[in-house]
Amino acid sequence: MKVNGIPYRTIWPHPTDERIIQIIDQRHLPHRFVVEDLASVQDVFTAIKDMHVRGAGLIGATAGYGMYLAAMEVSQSDSFDTHVKNAAEKLKSARPTAMNLFWAVDKQREAISSVNSKDEKISIALQTAKEIADSDAEYCRRIGEHGVTLIEEISRRKGGKPVNILTHCNAGWLAFVDFGSATAPVYAAHDKGIAVHVWVDETRPRNQGAALTCWELGNHGVPHTLITDNAGGYLMQQGKVDLVIVGSDRTTHTGDVANKVGTYLKALAARDNNIPFYVALPSSTIDWETADGVKDIPIEQRDPDEVKYVEGWCGDEVKKVRICPENSPAANYAFDVTPARLVTGLITERGICNADRDSIQKLFPKKQVL
Ligand code: MRU
Repeated sequence: MKVNGIPYRTIWPHPTDERIIQIIDQRHLPHRFVVEDLASVQDVFTAIKDMHVRGAGLIGATAGYGMYLAAMEVSQSDSFDTHVKNAAEKLKSARPTAMNLFWAVDKQREAISSVNSKDEKISIALQTAKEIADSDAEYCRRIGEHGVTLIEEISRRKGGKPVNILTHCNAGWLAFVDFGSATAPVYAAHDKGIAVHVWVDETRPRNQGAALTCWELGNHGVPHTLITDNAGGYLMQQGKVDLVIVGSDRTTHTGDVANKVGTYLKALAARDNNIPFYVALPSSTIDWETADGVKDIPIEQRDPDEVKYVEGWCGDEVKKVRICPENSPAANYAFDVTPARLVTGLITERGICNADRDSIQKLFPKKQVL
């Protein structure tokens, strides 16, 4: 996607020195556009844990490059396998919910162990990291192609009046390598000349909707309106939402969807108002082992200070202010799980399917292949 007319991905090897990986440091958006260099496994771990990068696909792609940096870091005295195994464990511990992190690290371990010499291992790790990033972008592009058909149909029904789509958090190109999952159909529709308008949930506590989704949509010229997290139900009752599309950090092979906390409430409101609720995800987000998402998907709990403080632009700098009594305890559950029964359908790189075991299996008979 473009930033001020210049095409960007969210992660890429340094153009003149592939020992360095560059990312957009998302902590500074929408106020400043900052590119950060990552040169070690520790840098990658910090970038994922402290959310310089975030979003399921991008966490996976960053971990993929992290494993390449791990392969390069092995010194003469280290055992290659031990160093790579430790790096894999460290990266996997950075964030517990997004499936793509585990998928990418395991993919790299398999690739690295398939060759023998150190040089070959480094070379295959770089190639695999690039493949993970490229496939993420391509899958999201295809999600756009499939998902746009839903928007086209509603647009036809409305005689070309704007299709109102509600989204939660940021499942846009910043959450992936390019295009995004939930936003890919929106960009595809907008680019085809279909009138769309997006209701953007602000997404407390870190405000990824306000900071990132609004910035992305604005950059691409897509009409949008920022709303509080609690406004969606009212808008649905008033007939102002035609379709909900959200992303996913982990979807079980039975169709339960873990996504940013608050997604479940949107799904309940959508069901009560008969509004289609779709989840867009590449197959690298599918958890092929877990069957009961509500019970078994690990939900990340983050620093309570993210709830107690908000950050914002104060004219010439970013400031952080407390919004509650200093001693009030806070809890910060980062994700929730929407049961499959509330999901109208899944938009994947292979097409749209029902959120149930059989439909998912039919679309991905051999699970997931790059
Ligand atoms: O905590 P984050 O920002 O990494 O959470 C990820 C998200 O932005 C959402 O949950 C998103 O909808 C799914 S990631 C494509």
